[in-house]
Amino acid sequence: MSDLKGTAVVTGATGGVGALYAAGLAERGYDLLLVGRQQSSLDAVAKAVKQKANVKVDILVANLADTADLARVEARISNDPAITALINNAGAATFGPLARLSAEAIDETIAVNITALTGLTRAVLPGFLARGAGAIVNIASVLAFHPWPEFGVYNASKAYVVSFSQAVQGEVAGKGVLVQVVTPPAVDTGFWNSAGLPVANLPAGAVMKPQHLVDAALKGLDRGESWVFPSLPEQAIWEDHQKTRQALVGGLMNGALAARYVA
Ligand SMILES: NC(=O)c1ccc[n+]([C@@H]2O[C@H](COP(=O)([O-])OP(=O)(O)OC[C@H]3O[C@@H](n4cnc5c(N)ncnc54)[C@H](OP(=O)(O)O)[C@@H]3O)[C@@H](O)[C@H]2O)c1
Repeated sequence: MSDLKGTAVVTGATGGVGALYAAGLAERGYDLLLVGRQQSSLDAVAKAVKQKANVKVDILVANLADTADLARVEARISNDPAITALINNAGAATFGPLARLSAEAIDETIAVNITALTGLTRAVLPGFLARGAGAIVNIASVLAFHPWPEFGVYNASKAYVVSFSQAVQGEVAGKGVLVQVVTPPAVDTGFWNSAGLPVANLPAGAVMKPQHLVDAALKGLDRGESWVFPSLPEQAIWEDHQKTRQALVGGLMNGALAARYVA
């Protein structure tokens, strides 16, 4: 058990990226609080982690799309000074044309990817700010920047993660708290089957190994990076995108009517 690192909360820790985060954080000496819907899967991840690292692993079974369960997780993490990191990894998605998506599928994506991520961030933030330390890692997606048809709710939920996180980064600047955004490309996990579009449908060269993603993300965490783009060849592409965005905002934040709309 580590007194130095404290406890990292990992949501969606039943498998995929979340389970790899759990293993990598434990290797770094973090105790863990694993959050997920399935006790048996969380138990298996906890057992595997403890075989490799001498850390404490707690489990919290919760459906993050359920309001009462989310409130229970928020209450659990909001007043625990041992918690030093929150990995908002849980994600839900359903692929298909909007006209055919069920209300339940839409609601679940928004509840997990937006409402839960926001509520959990809000839950840990006061403690992190009071202690002047802590890391919140929000898992976005390249689809945040790519409005791919038939995945609109998911893409938009991840665009929310980017915008929300960037705004909170502005709030915590200089206060010792890291709000990190990790932006994976397509990754070979159960995600695609769960979403209804098996990964075999994606171009092979576009799919990253989950271990590569998590290795890069944890390297980014070790370095205190605010933005981790594991597949982007040059970080300068993101910096250029920010300059373009700022130019757009500068142009838009203007009370004068643009000349082309003047009769
Ligand atoms: N795989 C990709 O290509 C890809 C690309 C970009 C971003 N991402 C993001 O990466 C993160 C991890 O995804 P992954 O690839 O590891 O997919 P995954 O294997 O499907 O894992 C998703 C995790 O989220 C959990 N989850 C879903 N709905 C939940 C709910 N209502 N309550 C609690 N937990 C819930 C799942 O739990 P259950 O086991 O109970 O279903 C699972 O543990 C997600 O945020 C995803 O959006 C993935």
